[in-house]
Amino acid sequence: MSKSIVLPKDALQHPIFQLIGKVGHELGQEVYVVGGFVRDQLLQRTQPKDIDFVTIGSGIALAKAVSEKLGPHGKVTVFKNFGTAMIHHAEYELEFVGARKESYDLGSRKPTVENGSLEDDQKRRDFTINALAISLNPDSYGELIDPFGGLLHLEQGILKTPLDPDSTFSDDPLRMMRAIRFANQLHFSIEAEALSAIRRNADRMQILSAERITEEFMKIMRCDKPSIGLGLLYETKLIHRFLPEIAALQGVEEIEGKLHKDNFYHTLEVVDNVAMASQNVWLRWAALLHDIGKPVVKRFDQKVGWTFHSHEFVGGKMTPAIFRRLKLPLGEPLRYVKKIVQQSSRPIVLSQEEVTDSAVRRLLFDAGDELEDLMILCESDITTKNSKKKSRYLKNFENVRQKLKEVEESDAIRNWQPPISGEQIMEVFGISPGREIGIIKNAIRESILDGIIPNKEKEAFEYMLQIGKEIGLKPKESHG
Ligand code: CTP
Repeated sequence: MSKSIVLPKDALQHPIFQLIGKVGHELGQEVYVVGGFVRDQLLQRTQPKDIDFVTIGSGIALAKAVSEKLGPHGKVTVFKNFGTAMIHHAEYELEFVGARKESYDLGSRKPTVENGSLEDDQKRRDFTINALAISLNPDSYGELIDPFGGLLHLEQGILKTPLDPDSTFSDDPLRMMRAIRFANQLHFSIEAEALSAIRRNADRMQILSAERITEEFMKIMRCDKPSIGLGLLYETKLIHRFLPEIAALQGVEEIEGKLHKDNFYHTLEVVDNVAMASQNVWLRWAALLHDIGKPVVKRFDQKVGWTFHSHEFVGGKMTPAIFRRLKLPLGEPLRYVKKIVQQSSRPIVLSQEEVTDSAVRRLLFDAGDELEDLMILCESDITTKNSKKKSRYLKNFENVRQKLKEVEESDAIRNWQPPISGEQIMEVFGISPGREIGIIKNAIRESILDGIIPNKEKEAFEYMLQIGKEIGLKPKESHG
């Protein structure tokens, strides 16, 4: 890919850039804008709200002086330990740091820092496209400083490290995830040397916290086509370190001439299909995890070939441990993902059979608010390359959708509320809380779902009296 790249005329239009350059000049400190802001300006992507400034001298002193000029519109926060400072100004977060040289200990990612030149600072950054700087100094305002060919790499769409990739990745192994994330977000390719360095340094992932890994991984999951990143994570064996359940999906086994599909590549397709249909990142997670139970329950049966019995249930059970390990939110997102994984074959089964009202009612009842998302996942799950089969499945899904609509209109099962409450049952039979109430409520629910009685209070009441009688209860006199 090749693009013609020029810094947009209005890149530094905002008065804050002039101001920062001027304040730097007054302090006798050179100032440059660096990193993601410069990259995204050149690519004409949506502007990030955090802008990084690097200065030759103290970043904190510069930030304090800028903040003074901005008065109430620029409160400064100083991070003394890191030698950095941040100013919130309008919708921006302005980060200031003194140019530095860094070298890292092998055992951690805590760097030892010394003051350095602009080039020292650019050199220690992750990729050449992130190491571009724009001068804010009055004599060279707006000039691009590009010692490592970042501009050319932006044009060529390549991710390349300014230094030897082994040292860049070993210094901060998160950069390996960042390489893959940028490759996915920007549709760039990772230069061959850098890609092999990622493979070589995959072990270094162990020094990273789960939170940092997850933050990058979420960015990959939010991309338009997450399979690009997922494929690279697999190929470099990074995913094996934090999501071995996904790596385990890969592979095709053959017994007696019978093959099963490769569930890893299938899963990538499903995630992409879901990503095209929905922006909900948790639905993409459900797609990612929907088959993780398969390698666990896989069996070969002489008569029927490969089976994956209850894999959805097992996959759902595996989900909380993954969320805990990756420090993903354990509340609503976990409940949702687990539920979708566990239900992930329901509509498919329906689409393959003659659809009965009662099966549709049960699906409406079990899926509730998640029904629409579940349908998206199931339609995305059809990855057969046989176009006849594909159109037949999709047509069957249309039938299921139609049937769901009809049954919902007539029976209102979605987010179903029992037509008879526990209190009513106690009142009618004059009993206190106990197991009989559960028995009656279940019987009413099951009969409604099976279509034996309609979802109406009058019929449910009659039915309650009948079940009560069967289990030896008598209505109180007033209800006789
Ligand atoms: N950087 C780095 N190594 C890292 C993280 C960041 O060298 N592990 C450098 C890069 O020069 C990067 C800059 O710090 O451009 C700012 O980092 P950050 O704000 O995290 O990322 P951006 O590049 O701005 O991109 P995005 O906002 O998409 O994360």
